[in-house]
Amino acid sequence: MTHFDYRDGELFAEDVPLSRIAEAVGTPVYVYSETALTDAYRRFAGALAEAGLDARVCYAMKANSNLAVVRALAACGAGADVVSGGELARALAAGVNPAEIVFSGVGKTGDEMRQAIAASIGQFNIESIPELERLSEVANATGATVNVAVRVNPDVDADTHHKISTGRHHDKFGIDIDRAREVYDRAAALPGIAPVAVAVHIGSQLTDLSPFRAAFTRVAALVHELRADGHDITTLDLGGGLGIDYGQQSPPDPRDYAAIVADTVGDLGCTLVFEPGRYLAGPAGVLLTEIIYVKDGETRSFAIVDAAMNDLVRPAMYDAHHEVLAVRQPNPDRAPHSYDIVGPVCETGDTFATQRDLPVLEAGELVVIRDAGAYGAVMASGYNSRLLIAEVLVRGSGFSVVRARQDIAAMLAQETLADWQT
Ligand code: LLP
Repeated sequence: MTHFDYRDGELFAEDVPLSRIAEAVGTPVYVYSETALTDAYRRFAGALAEAGLDARVCYAMKANSNLAVVRALAACGAGADVVSGGELARALAAGVNPAEIVFSGVGKTGDEMRQAIAASIGQFNIESIPELERLSEVANATGATVNVAVRVNPDVDADTHHKISTGRHHDKFGIDIDRAREVYDRAAALPGIAPVAVAVHIGSQLTDLSPFRAAFTRVAALVHELRADGHDITTLDLGGGLGIDYGQQSPPDPRDYAAIVADTVGDLGCTLVFEPGRYLAGPAGVLLTEIIYVKDGETRSFAIVDAAMNDLVRPAMYDAHHEVLAVRQPNPDRAPHSYDIVGPVCETGDTFATQRDLPVLEAGELVVIRDAGAYGAVMASGYNSRLLIAEVLVRGSGFSVVRARQDIAAMLAQETLADWQT
């Protein structure tokens, strides 16, 4: 059950025909299923609970930080993993419990640290000694003591796309696990810092679980060492990274992931924090787009759609595969035709998919790009002065616009001529 299924000859989001959303809101538009979001949350959190783990799920908001999406997950009990002052503000606005907010990222500014301390967030994940020292200064100035995890880099290859692998020695993330003990000693000596946790995140879209096992095993050994050094480690943040099926992978089951967690770190007596992003949001969203023209080239047919790489950059940026479906249900008796699905932006990279078998398409028809709920809208830009598109949340037979389509006046209002030009 994906919550995006054919019914009565056309594709629905839950109980809403996508054509109805296109008519009401226009295209392109991101459409999210609230039930898909909350089901995924329950599958993930349920697998951890079944494995007997004391777990807190802090949704990685970078995957999709729309307020309504965050609210839907917070209502299920999710905390949040944030990486900027902007995400922190969204988490708070969506009603996430501040004590369940983790602040990650390699370059937190002093202002962001102050904002997070003022909000009384639960934990800072620091990634370097200079960052640790800055946090100590900021916390100390406000009289606060903050819970800190050092994000360690376990030197494990996550075997995923090189642009989203983060746990190897030469990646910019975390502190080498071999240096962790001295960093905890340093942290313990700094005012305003309580080094109570260890964090690790080795990459995103992992479809093989063995790198998790390798990384968590190394982290468990580190926890023993840190405790022997006198540090009271109460919390382990195991990051995100669980992969999904974009149509070509066999995704790991969260229960198998939970079993590895239980096996490697389950007996440490730590509270475990997880930061899933893609697993929760990815399959819960589609990009709904209308075909502007069908162009038959020398060797290929192109379906030119009204969405473009600025709306969903994953195919252009990572050569990512996304399934494409026609909203009109294909007739099994008709032979399919092969199309490249491309956007209107003036770059060859503005290609969503190549040589896909689809029913014979016509201008004016709708198609969806699947699994676009994570790292879709959040990575959109205004390239080619294209307006940021709308987002819609569906629940059952109802839907609501949860981000309005930008308009030209709003786009122009952001800019002015220089003083001397007016
Ligand atoms: N925690 C940390 C510290 C992270 O850096 C990330 C993702 C996550 C959690 C969530 O990972 P997830 O569960 O979603 O795999 N834009 C890329 C993905 C970048 C991921 C960055 N970090 C894409 O579209 O594939």
